[in-house]
Amino acid sequence: HNHIDNATVEKVEAAIKAGDTHAHVPDYETYDAYAAEGGYATLKDLRENGNWEAVQDKVLASGLRGLGGAGFPSGKKWGFVRGNAGPRYLAVNGDEGEPGTFKDRYYLERTPHLFLEGMLIAAWAVEAEKAFIYMRDEYPAVLEILRREIAALEDAGIVEAGYIDLRRGAGAYICGEESAMIESIEGKRGMPRHRPPYVAQVGIFDRPTLVHNVETLYWVARVCREGAEVLSSVEKNGRKGLRSYSVSGRVKNPGVHLLPAGSTILDVIEAAGGMLDGQTFKAYQPGGPSSGLLPASMDDIPLDFDTLQPHGSFIGSAAVVVLSDQDSARDAALNMLRFFEDESCGQCTPCRVGCEKAVKLMQAETWNTDLLEELSQAMVDASICGLGQAAPNPIRLTIKHFSGEIG
Ligand code: NAI
Ligand code: SF4
Repeated sequence: HNHIDNATVEKVEAAIKAGDTHAHVPDYETYDAYAAEGGYATLKDLRENGNWEAVQDKVLASGLRGLGGAGFPSGKKWGFVRGNAGPRYLAVNGDEGEPGTFKDRYYLERTPHLFLEGMLIAAWAVEAEKAFIYMRDEYPAVLEILRREIAALEDAGIVEAGYIDLRRGAGAYICGEESAMIESIEGKRGMPRHRPPYVAQVGIFDRPTLVHNVETLYWVARVCREGAEVLSSVEKNGRKGLRSYSVSGRVKNPGVHLLPAGSTILDVIEAAGGMLDGQTFKAYQPGGPSSGLLPASMDDIPLDFDTLQPHGSFIGSAAVVVLSDQDSARDAALNMLRFFEDESCGQCTPCRVGCEKAVKLMQAETWNTDLLEELSQAMVDASICGLGQAAPNPIRLTIKHFSGEIG
């Protein structure tokens, strides 16, 4: 359902040639509209009378966890960063590159100021000298919105000119890894650093740096304004909070669906309008390609942080892709490894060579499962960053759950 006709392609190409890459900025809440609804009152109040530890307590009480994918308790990061002497920086990871993830874009194209206010609250909490936003260049409308609205914030005197530094990514998936992103912000080739030290200690230009994902900051603003209960009062299947599932694949209404964190895949499919007519649910990717594929029979697991680890998977940024009886799990897994092969930064051998070898082995009619398992273990044990460490998940889960497809 995504066919683009030739006339549209010609129109877009002509617009790009004319330098107009921002032809489709959607309607969104501008600074004036947001301020008229009481926007930035929270930030102003905090700057005047606030105690950062009280705000941290509120964020911790809400249960907010890092929504880039790792789920690290957000309030805790503030303490780590504050624990190191200034000057400190804040960096926003807007390099939403996980295949199937589009929730940050969703919020930025609708309510950019909830994100921006949340960012300025976090910057205030850690006394950041400067805030960098590292934004995916494939989101031209978002970049245009941010340019306009950062200018509006400067005009309104909410930030000094230049305080918010909007940087554009250049399409490398690895630049979403926080230390590679920091290298890129510093003007270097984006390659992950070894850790420790964590970026909270040694970040941009070796200064303590608070790194948050876009959606995390959107929720910081809402928690500060509406109270911790906006998240902590939602309970389902023993899990607390809300998740923005980016849903795609064989469902009737793909898109971002905000649901309780304890939702199962059946809840997510239902929220997305059900399966396409005539197609049967077969498998799902719970959170990006590094989370691999689970079979439809595993339909009662809450799709939240911590709940999928015992099954060899994880929720990550909640990029749910739904596969049907018309799809091949084996082909999907091969596609995931091809992606990692393309996107490996090449810095370490287990990942650079491991992804390439895995693709070759997965192309064989019959998978050599012993060799694939040995390779997977080497990649998990010896890769520097999450890309190489998690790349074997699709291999292992396909061997475990879709053995009928691998010869
Ligand atoms: P991580 O668990 O290593 O770190 C999470 C965050 O907590 C980082 O900011 C890290 O600096 C901080 N942290 C962890 N332990 C710390 C400590 N002891 N002291 C101070 N800070 C500490 O996870 P990572 O590698 O940053 O993220 C992996 C996730 O990213 C995966 O789950 C994947 O799903 C997701 N991802 C998301 C993408 C997207 O487009 N949203 C793209 C690719 C991956
Ligand atoms: Fe680069 Fe892969 Fe090594 Fe990560 S694991 S540092 S992406 S080569």
